[in-house]
Amino acid sequence: GKVVLAFSGGLDTSICVPLLREHYGYDEVVTVAVDVGQPEEEMRRATEKGILLADQHYTIDVKERFVEEYLFRSIKANGSYEGYPMGTALARPLIAEEIVKIADKEGARCIAHGCTGKGNDQLRFDFIFRAGGYDIVAPMREMNLTREWEIQYAQERNIPVTVVKDKPYSIDENCWSRSIEGGKLEDPSFHPPDDIYAWTVSPKDAPDRMEEITIGFEQGVPVSLNGERLSGLALIKRLNLIAGQNGVGRNDMIEDRILGLKAREIYEHPAATVLLAAHHDLEHLVLTRNELAFKHIVDDKWSELGYMGLVHEPLYHALNAFIDTTQERVTGTVDVGLYKGSVKVLGRASDSAIYSDDLVSFDSCTIDQNHAVGFSNYFGLQARLCKNMKK
Ligand code: ARG
Ligand code: SIN
Repeated sequence: GKVVLAFSGGLDTSICVPLLREHYGYDEVVTVAVDVGQPEEEMRRATEKGILLADQHYTIDVKERFVEEYLFRSIKANGSYEGYPMGTALARPLIAEEIVKIADKEGARCIAHGCTGKGNDQLRFDFIFRAGGYDIVAPMREMNLTREWEIQYAQERNIPVTVVKDKPYSIDENCWSRSIEGGKLEDPSFHPPDDIYAWTVSPKDAPDRMEEITIGFEQGVPVSLNGERLSGLALIKRLNLIAGQNGVGRNDMIEDRILGLKAREIYEHPAATVLLAAHHDLEHLVLTRNELAFKHIVDDKWSELGYMGLVHEPLYHALNAFIDTTQERVTGTVDVGLYKGSVKVLGRASDSAIYSDDLVSFDSCTIDQNHAVGFSNYFGLQARLCKNMKK
């Protein structure tokens, strides 16, 4: 039979190829690497390895779609989980959909992935593959393999291994975020060495002066950087460099996975940190107090579904419809200062601002302040009555 394997070129999915032949008895293994903005070097390596190891290999570029359909949506929803901007979670459904397309085309009945039975990715992938009507093979989950065993097996099969025994991290990257986990990092009290980071400098080594940038938004999505119009992907790439050089976007945390396991996770997401901060700030300028309060609930629910990768959940689409409506006015610019790991909004402007300096200014007389006295007479009325009753 034929099996289609979700392939990254990393240790797990590389040894899946011989395992699917030797252990599962498939006679044709098709690998698919999906480009969601991993470093170019890594995509190249995945393609080379796929061609080397599999009977047939596909590399599919969905970077622009990932940005415009998934990341833009997440920006509009202020998408975050337990305080960090989601990245891996957003890419999984798109990667899985592309693999289903290849499996359809190849006439395979089965799809394989390299996720373990301990994490979130297995659930996100399985969900899409099952929805596409496929049986699932997950060697890492089914065979209870350890990384030590995997490294040795790979060496015996002459599979090039990039993880070395003293740095056995599991890394997942797309253009929005880089996650690092496993190995020594699994001890939550262990202080991570600086060399686990690739996109950010340590805040203590960042420049001693603040870098100021301006981000332009249209209907909730970023469209320009320092006045220059850029595609979403180009903007994110450039902002990752600028913010990363200033030590912005590191995160070291204990995360609650869907299964309930707590895990020590480390992230880098420089552009995401800046764009989410700027977007949320702009929302505060242009949305009403009611919209903001309700959208906060919607954003939380959206993020929960996004974290689980449940993109076929009807509620997810209903929430997106609400969010899109609110974003019609989220157009404007936000000036941001980046300084040694911190992000500060310095100023914001929008033609849709629900803001009148003429009304709010302490220096203007447009509002007759005496009108506030009537309001104040009723303000906190019930609480005042209760307080006096107790006396
Ligand atoms: N904990 C993060 C998430 O669930 C990152 C997972 C990283 N995945 C990986 N295969 N290394 O989204
Ligand atoms: C894995 O367990 O396969 C990676 C981590 C995760 O899915 O959360």
